[in-house]
Amino acid sequence: MFTKPLFLIGILIATLQLCPQVASAQQAGSIGLRSDNIDQVLKAMTTAEKCSLLVGDAAIGAAVPNVAGYTHAIPRLGIPQTVLSDGPAGVRISPTRQGSSQTFYCTGFPVGTLTASSWDPTLVEEMTRAMGSEALEYGVDVLLAPGMNIHRNPLCGRNFEYFSEDPLLSGRIAAAYVRGVQSQGVGCSVKHFAANNQETNRLENDARVSERALREIYLKNFEIAVKEGHPWTVMSSYNKLNGEYTQQNHRLLTTILRNEWGFGGLVMTDWGCKDSTAKAVKAGNDLLMPGNQRERDRLLAAVESGALTQAHLDQVVHRVLEYIVKTPHYRKYPYSNRPDLQTHAQVARRAAAESIVLLRNEKETLPLNGGENVALYGISSVDFFGVGTGSGFVHTSHVANMQEALEATGFKLDQDLTNYYRHLYALQLDKERMEASAIDKRHRPEPEVTVKAIERQAQANDVAIIVLGRIAGEGADRVFHDDFQLTAPERELIQNVSMVYHKVGKRVVVVLNIVGVVETASWKELVDAIILPWAPGQEGAHAVADIIKGNVNPSGKLPMTFPVNYMDLPSATNFPYRWDMSGKKGERRGVDFTPYEEGIWVGYRHFITHDIAVSYPFGYGLSYTTFDYGQPKVKAGQDGFTATITVTNTGNVPGREVVQLYVSAPAGGLEKPHYELKAFAKTKTLMPGESDTLSMTVTAYDLASFNESTAAWETVAGTYALLFGASATDIRRTTHYKVKKAKAWPII
Ligand code: GLC
Repeated sequence: MFTKPLFLIGILIATLQLCPQVASAQQAGSIGLRSDNIDQVLKAMTTAEKCSLLVGDAAIGAAVPNVAGYTHAIPRLGIPQTVLSDGPAGVRISPTRQGSSQTFYCTGFPVGTLTASSWDPTLVEEMTRAMGSEALEYGVDVLLAPGMNIHRNPLCGRNFEYFSEDPLLSGRIAAAYVRGVQSQGVGCSVKHFAANNQETNRLENDARVSERALREIYLKNFEIAVKEGHPWTVMSSYNKLNGEYTQQNHRLLTTILRNEWGFGGLVMTDWGCKDSTAKAVKAGNDLLMPGNQRERDRLLAAVESGALTQAHLDQVVHRVLEYIVKTPHYRKYPYSNRPDLQTHAQVARRAAAESIVLLRNEKETLPLNGGENVALYGISSVDFFGVGTGSGFVHTSHVANMQEALEATGFKLDQDLTNYYRHLYALQLDKERMEASAIDKRHRPEPEVTVKAIERQAQANDVAIIVLGRIAGEGADRVFHDDFQLTAPERELIQNVSMVYHKVGKRVVVVLNIVGVVETASWKELVDAIILPWAPGQEGAHAVADIIKGNVNPSGKLPMTFPVNYMDLPSATNFPYRWDMSGKKGERRGVDFTPYEEGIWVGYRHFITHDIAVSYPFGYGLSYTTFDYGQPKVKAGQDGFTATITVTNTGNVPGREVVQLYVSAPAGGLEKPHYELKAFAKTKTLMPGESDTLSMTVTAYDLASFNESTAAWETVAGTYALLFGASATDIRRTTHYKVKKAKAWPII
């Protein structure tokens, strides 16, 4: 009676024995992934499982819903799903969940550009420890951050997520960012690798960059971040680089990233795969995000056809498993969904306050005494931008605005004026809700305030504060008119307020709540003070108020140049500040392809070397106190030198100073910038009269330039001038260092 089933079972067992994979998979059902049995688990996986592991998964039943992406789970082998969430200014998860009355708001930290304005890797690490802790408690395994593409042109729509025009500053800040987040056991993904310096046609744009500019400017910051931050993952970008998609570029992802720089982690695509998945995996792209069945099928077909060898597939799967065993989900970390948002808000406020840049402060207009009657102008005083839009956005429970921040700091605001702006803002919001239109991608229309009203306000108040705002984000670049340039209503507001208040001997302060460089030269001398908080996070308005009142002495410095004219920028003619879709597809300069004709001449390298005046230079920022720079000392070491310099607070209030060390290479050989940033350091808070001795180390490799003809980094022998500056154009002390023997580092 039982013969039939038994017979069938016999056949089944025989079949299983014949198919080693299924057989071993069946035996391996009991194997659970551990950090010390990856090879064994790998052997137990079927080819289909291996291919699935390389492709992102949908959020079905995901532990943490509505995040950017997930990796594939293989429960029978103890391989959990892992959770990948944006973004650079804080964890981006939905604040509400179906079936839950709990909220899941996150902290809106300062955006990347403000973070870099701190010039303080220690502060950055402190801030991102809080960010990493928040990610951990919300069940995130990798924070898709930092964004760190070079500010090639101020109109890039995502510059606010990124750090600087200079690769050293960008790389050092990125490395500190990564160390802070990863100290909490959560991974980072430095992005977007590489040469993703515009949003126009970002999925297809071909960045055409010379090898030298690529090495010295667009890869150098990633090289520093990888070598000094050790990110768990790198995100390749959407765009092409010199004709090939970066996600399929073996030289970029394997030869340079892994073989030259020693990166041992995981490379994932940005959120979209190109036509050939196998090519991406063979190039060194391990994880295909966000992933779908088509990618899995393509990979399986590539393995079955031999286009992707089993050996290569296993090598990549091994890397993914090495990543998984590091993750909180693998470690079954009992995340609470209750991060310490209160503490993180204070961390965000302090980080913002330590990074905000004071651009102008005539006749010590600032700080105010506190308690003054303030006429607060500008729609952005109530519609204050904490972060930008797109994947860099953060769902915060609240973003403080300047009205509440100044009142909370003890200033008395002109109520007619604040009510006027509140009312108009409410009307604009209603209109947008009715029309379901998002705000203009760049700013809100600036409401008019009549001269008559300003005259009345000037009588009733002690000081005027004008807040100007700009917003931008992923998927679109900024534009020149009414974006980089101020709008006519903004200009009129500045002119009228300045004219009326100065007539009665009162001062005018401007606050730039912006996500990218704007034109300043034509109007800055109309006003008495200018504060630059960029998009400073949910508590940033309070940080601005702290600076206005003098609770905090500003110590931020510009991480990029503010040019006098947009066209002074070396990339101006090669940046698509408008969608010129008129041309023939494939031939649209700036859209289909962008020639980086300026080469290494980016930012201060261009302006200093070619002696072009700027509105505010790289590294510039004022303080409420003054500093004296002592005579630097240079000590040659085994490899390079260590420079020390003593800085003294010669003013009347405590403060911090950032000393920038620029190096000018000896003449001859490659054409080089007049000087380049090679190190920087920030003092502790110095009391009046107190000194701090800063130490900066520069290696021989740090001094090297990339020589295309020898395909090598080269540090030539000779005398190098060392310039210690408070900005790129404010050199306080100089000395020199002699390289006795030339050195070269050929690339692979
Ligand atoms: C986006 C962005 C990237 C982000 C990813 C996931 O397209 O380019 O920065 O991390 O998708 O949201």
